Parts: sequence; structure tokens; C-alpha cells
Amino acid sequence: MATKIGILTGGGDCPGLNAVIRGVVKSAVGRGWEVVGIEDGFDGFLHQEKCRPLGLEEVRGILPRGGTILGTSNRGNPFAFPIMREGKVELVDVSDEVRSRIVNLGLTALIVVGGDGSLKIAQEMMRRGIPIVGVPKTIDNDLMETDVTFGYNTALETATDALDKLHSTAESHHRVMVLEVMGRYAGWIALESGIAGGADVILIPEIPYDIEKVRDAIIARCKRGRRFSVVVVAEGAYAKGGDRVVKEAAGGKSVVERLGGVGEALSRELGGVLEMDIRVTVLGHLQRGGTPSTFDRCVGSRFGVKAVELVEAGAFGQMVCLKGRHITSVPIEDAVRSLKLIDPSGEMVRHAEALGIMLGR
Ligand code: F6P
Repeated sequence: MATKIGILTGGGDCPGLNAVIRGVVKSAVGRGWEVVGIEDGFDGFLHQEKCRPLGLEEVRGILPRGGTILGTSNRGNPFAFPIMREGKVELVDVSDEVRSRIVNLGLTALIVVGGDGSLKIAQEMMRRGIPIVGVPKTIDNDLMETDVTFGYNTALETATDALDKLHSTAESHHRVMVLEVMGRYAGWIALESGIAGGADVILIPEIPYDIEKVRDAIIARCKRGRRFSVVVVAEGAYAKGGDRVVKEAAGGKSVVERLGGVGEALSRELGGVLEMDIRVTVLGHLQRGGTPSTFDRCVGSRFGVKAVELVEAGAFGQMVCLKGRHITSVPIEDAVRSLKLIDPSGEMVRHAEALGIMLGR
């Protein structure tokens, strides 16, 4: 029976992380267990002061708070840990150190709350004998084997709210308003917020767009007397025959490539073929912040409770997930095998097109 468990949050933050932490602490303390919070993802294991006890007092009042009280990092991969050597970044394997720290802390299990990257690390650590349970988080909603990840719903609300606001100013000025949203290689945020926010054009990575067709759709709207258009573009979207717009390549300061700039690129392309004014809004990290929605708080809390139940059952290597209205679990390795992307001929795309939304094809 586990009596002392660790919890960490890794990768990009998202709304609902604190609900998970609170859920874990409440249900673990309820069983008489101890909980140790590891700060800044796996990185925290490398610093003694970053591993601290978490009790009921520490999680009081955190449910509506965005971010994570434990801090996070997307640079703390113990198998490729960046260190500076002679002015250059070098990646070294510190996984043995992390493993020894886990043993020294007396942790009988570790709960890793993370997205694709952190859960892949968790899986590797499992192979080295650390008993781990995973909890899926990311605003991108790109993890397999769970209907949704928490954080996604709040990000959608933020994007939809932005679209509502852009609509009125687009209409007043007879402009094309482009909203660039996050999502990395998946178009979930763009597609669902675009449907909810009544976008005229939605461009997603799963459907490389044809710029001429986008232009024709905007002109056709003008001819129907709709002298404005609202376009949502996912940061990972790209033109047919073109490439993704990368802000910063992987390596150096950033472990993974950073996307961004497709909104401006699209505006330049459209500017050459349209007479209308075009303005671009990049929603950026606003999608990751703020108070979590009711849905994310509820799912996050339940994920926390379920993670402790899995630890109690000794079901290591499992990730909690949502299937329909049930919280259940799947092997972590199934969840990280590939990214959950939008099916270009699937139901949601068909429904968007049936609503008259142009998807760039
Ligand atoms: O994975 C979450 C996410 O917000 C992506 O949508 C986005 O591409 C990326 O993280 C941004 O990362 P960073 O916080 O490092 O800029």
C-alpha cells in the first residue's frame, strides 16, 4: 500500500492544474497518505528545496486559480537535460539522479500531470522502475485515448470570446479579422471555437489551405452584402505546398519548435489579392491563463481523485482519461503513441462545412 506519493506538473501550464493537485491531495490525505509536491516538473527532483510536503492547507482556495501552484517547465526532460557548457547548451542524461531522488524521498508512487512530452518522459521513467500514474493536460486536446484533456475547455472559451469581440469590429470597419490561436499540430481550438464563434473561415493543420479558395470565399461573402469576414487560423496551419510558420526552431533555448506567425503570413498572402483591410490578432498565452471553466475544474478534480485510486490499486503505467461521462484509465503508452488530430473527412469538419464555414479547401 502506497503511503507517500509525489505529484508534479510538467510542460506548458493550463487552467485546471490546481484542481488536479487539490483532488490528489484531498483524496490521498483522506487515506492517511503523505503527498510531496515537486516544483517545476521533473526539474524539481534535481533541487532538494523544490520537493515539499503538500497538505490540505497548501491546496485550500486554489480551485479557481489558473496556472499551477507547483510551477512547471518544458525544459526539464531528465533524459535530455539542458546544461550550459562553455557558453553552449548541451543535453545530458540526469535520469539516474532523478531516480535516486525519488527513492531517497521515499516515494512509493509518482503522479505526473502532463501532455504528450511529460507523459513520454513518465513512460521512460516507468521503464526504469518508477511507479507512475499519468494525468492528461493540455489546451491543445491532442492526446489520444481521452475524449478531452482538461484546460482545453477554458482555452476554447477564451478563443470564442475573442471571436465574438472581433466580429463587431470586423463588421463596423468592413474588414477581414484574422485570429491566430494555439494548438500546436492539431486544429481543435481553431475548429471548435470557430464553430462556436461563427467564423467564416477556419484553417487547421489537418487541411492545408488553398489561398485562392480562401480569397474567393471572402469575395463571395462581400458579393452577398457581408462586407467583413472573420478567419480563425490554428498556429500549425499552412498553405498547400507550403510549410508551417516556425517562430523558433527546436534546440538552443527551446527544446521543441515554437510555432507562431501564420496569422501575419496569411494576412500578407490575402493582402496581395484582396482590397479589404486585414487585421491580425494573435491570442497567444491568454489561452493558457485565467480561471478554469466549470468543466475543467470538475474534470480536473475527478482526474485527481481517479489518479489516487489508480495508485491505491497499483495500476502503474496507466493514465486517467475521460470516456463519455466516465473517468477511467488507459495505458500511458497508448495515449502517447501518436497525436490526436482532426479527421479531415470526419463529423466535426463536415458539420462545420454544412454551416457554411470555409475550411480552406
Ligand atoms: O502545448 C500547449 C501550447 O500552448 C501550444 O498550444 C503552443 O504551441 C505552446 O504550448 C507554446 O509554448 P510556450 O509556452 O513554450 O511558448
